[in-house]
Amino acid sequence: MERGEIRDYQATWFLVSRVTICSMTNKKIIIGNWKMAPSTMKEAKVTFNSIKKIASKLPNAQTIICPPFVYLSELKKTVSGNRCVLGAQDSFWDSKEKAHTGEVSPEMLSGLGIKYVILGHSEKRALGESDEIVNKKVNECLKEGLIVVLCVGESQRDEHGEYTKFIKKEIIDSLKKIQKKYLNNLMIAYEPIWAIGKSATRVASPEDALEVSILIKKVLAGMFNKDIAMKVPILYGGSVNPDNSKSFLTDGEMDGLLVGRASLDANKFGKILKIANQLN
Ligand code: PGA
Repeated sequence: MERGEIRDYQATWFLVSRVTICSMTNKKIIIGNWKMAPSTMKEAKVTFNSIKKIASKLPNAQTIICPPFVYLSELKKTVSGNRCVLGAQDSFWDSKEKAHTGEVSPEMLSGLGIKYVILGHSEKRALGESDEIVNKKVNECLKEGLIVVLCVGESQRDEHGEYTKFIKKEIIDSLKKIQKKYLNNLMIAYEPIWAIGKSATRVASPEDALEVSILIKKVLAGMFNKDIAMKVPILYGGSVNPDNSKSFLTDGEMDGLLVGRASLDANKFGKILKIANQLN
């Protein structure tokens, strides 16, 4: 789909979608991706507990913290209620007990009581993770009953809208052969690589996010059907902070946010959670 087509589509599509969007939950979904931090379990516990304290008072925000694997089991013991839960940053694509050194299976995650998993993050893709591998992981995690947060996003934008073709291909290849019945356990996070982390070249605008969320729904509608497409929550991620979070959720019409750096600061992340909570 070309850029112009996305805009044309926007008028008819979005009027309808605003009513039905975010059906997995009416809450805004705010995910903290801690990446490879903090360095110690002690810090992880302190930060998680501070976030949990804030999140537990917010009925309209679903908080999901994704720490490194090694902290999951210990932090899980401190989870109470559903308002602030844990997710994993990755999973392997095989659930059997097999020879895969260094990997963690979807079965292990669900056995631990983990419900959410981020897959296909650009930092994993940069290390060689292909759409084919992401597809295997998505398939296996959905079969295991996990809720998958599939990350997609282009490394750069161009005037001619080539990036839309890239994102479309990423979605199609990552969701190949996924059965329709599993799609109510899917979210898609749009994370433009140029807007992520310390080396971000610019901050994305809510319009950038909105345009791609329409593209994602259009691609999903083509692969599955419109009803299913409308129900898949779309999140934005890339340099989200307390100052810009509201605009992505309102002007950008996102169902949620995937937050990196700011999620390691309980104060900043707490502000984002409170902003999200007020929007319902
Ligand atoms: P950032 O990271 O918020 O630090 O830009 C987002 C992400 O990579 O998920």
